Amino acid sequence: MLRTQTSLSTWSQERSMKWLVFLGLVAFSECIVKIPLKRMQIMRKTRSEKNMLNNFMKEHAYRLYLTSSPGSNITTHPLRNIKDTVYVGNITIGTPPQEFQVVFDTGSSDLWVHSVFCTSQFCSSHVLFRHRESSTFRSTQRRFRIQYRSGWMKGVVVHDNVRIGDLVSTDQPFGLSMEHSGFEGLPFDGVLGLSYPNISFIGGIPIFDNLKNQGAISEPVFAFYLSKSKPEGSVVMFGGVDKSYYQGTLNWVPLIQVGKWRVHMDRISMNSRVIACNDGCEATVDTGTSLILGPGRLVDNILRLFGATEHYVSCSVVNTLPSIDFTINGIKYPVPAQAYAIKESSGDCFIGFRGTRVNTSTETWILGDLFLRVYFSVFDRGNDRVGLAQAV
Ligand SMILES: *[C@@H]1O[C@H](CO)[C@@H](O)[C@H](O)[C@H]1NC(C)=O
Ligand SMILES: *[C@@H]1O[C@H](CO)[C@@H](O)[C@H](O)[C@H]1NC(C)=O
Ligand SMILES: *[C@@H]1O[C@H](CO)[C@@H](O)[C@H](O)[C@H]1NC(C)=O
Ligand SMILES: *[C@@H]1O[C@H](CO)[C@@H](O)[C@H](O)[C@H]1NC(C)=O
Repeated sequence: MLRTQTSLSTWSQERSMKWLVFLGLVAFSECIVKIPLKRMQIMRKTRSEKNMLNNFMKEHAYRLYLTSSPGSNITTHPLRNIKDTVYVGNITIGTPPQEFQVVFDTGSSDLWVHSVFCTSQFCSSHVLFRHRESSTFRSTQRRFRIQYRSGWMKGVVVHDNVRIGDLVSTDQPFGLSMEHSGFEGLPFDGVLGLSYPNISFIGGIPIFDNLKNQGAISEPVFAFYLSKSKPEGSVVMFGGVDKSYYQGTLNWVPLIQVGKWRVHMDRISMNSRVIACNDGCEATVDTGTSLILGPGRLVDNILRLFGATEHYVSCSVVNTLPSIDFTINGIKYPVPAQAYAIKESSGDCFIGFRGTRVNTSTETWILGDLFLRVYFSVFDRGNDRVGLAQAV
């Protein structure tokens, strides 16, 4: 088993509403106020509308093709690949700056770090935010709880200056952990969510929106290059796309609904045979999830095709296995066996598909780091679309 496997995508809002409460922190007021949440409207587009949108986007996409030359406005921020299961980068918070190692997560919208309020023994192995040592720190009375697929986090909402490299978001709302579950032993001090404000549990303006509003970023895009096998070389870039990280065409895919990095997927196939997503399905592009996640029943079927026992195959057969093809917006994205079969220290190869047991009305897949090592990904808030291209 991959011990550091994570899935930070948050549960659907309907499910998590019940967790969203505001509490008086100082008074520990007993009056719990539920935040009214608007149900997200699904904005389905007809095929012709989608094509019109795509054509429009193609014509308006030229400004994104910047390179990371001196004077360009792209901030390229290094990430460290921890054993192909989680990618972390440094940010600083406060004045003087305190440094944290966080996951840059497209599956959630909130920033939080562990803090001195955290009493769990697991917090002692992390960098903890020491709010008393920051002159720009501002507290609030608000508490939050975030439900992730692989755990939950509870804490208090505060404000301070947050820096990602040379990008500074002043008075950024974020969370300080007080209690959590599912984060034990994970090699990061917090999470920096890069999804839409709509799915924020903390309720303040997320950091990317603030950087955009404060004029720190010239174009409202960011992109990920995730390195394979080696710790160094991965980056998240803000404000533009550095072409040197991908080859061939960058294909744009409109989001199903504004509010989540989720797109329509046509099918999943192997040797031209459809193996899942028969009638089309949804796919969330999620840098905070290690593997590829799908409905349990369908994942079991896929594992059966490999004759995999408990997710494992012998590494000696990996070179003979076919690729698994994800067709999105009419374009096939093959994931070769070398990418989906992960060699472990035990010497066996782990098939990187994992079943979820959550009932959803639509078939939903999560394309995590396993997929994103093969495909460079761009997240375009200006046009509400995702770009995918063959990673170098
Ligand atoms: C989500 O937020 C965006 C603004 O970022 C807004 O345009 C959109 O309507 C919201 N969607 C829903 C379903 O609330
Ligand atoms: C950087 O951003 C500024 C202000 O938004 C703009 O005037 C300038 O042309 C941009 N530079 C590049 C290389 O895109
Ligand atoms: C984060 O900072 C630490 C030292 O503070 C450094 O060793 C590490 O390489 C940095 N990580 C990245 C991804 O740059
Ligand atoms: C999911 O739905 C099916 C059928 O609608 C039901 O039999 C099953 O118990 C549900 N599973 C969970 C975990 O709710």
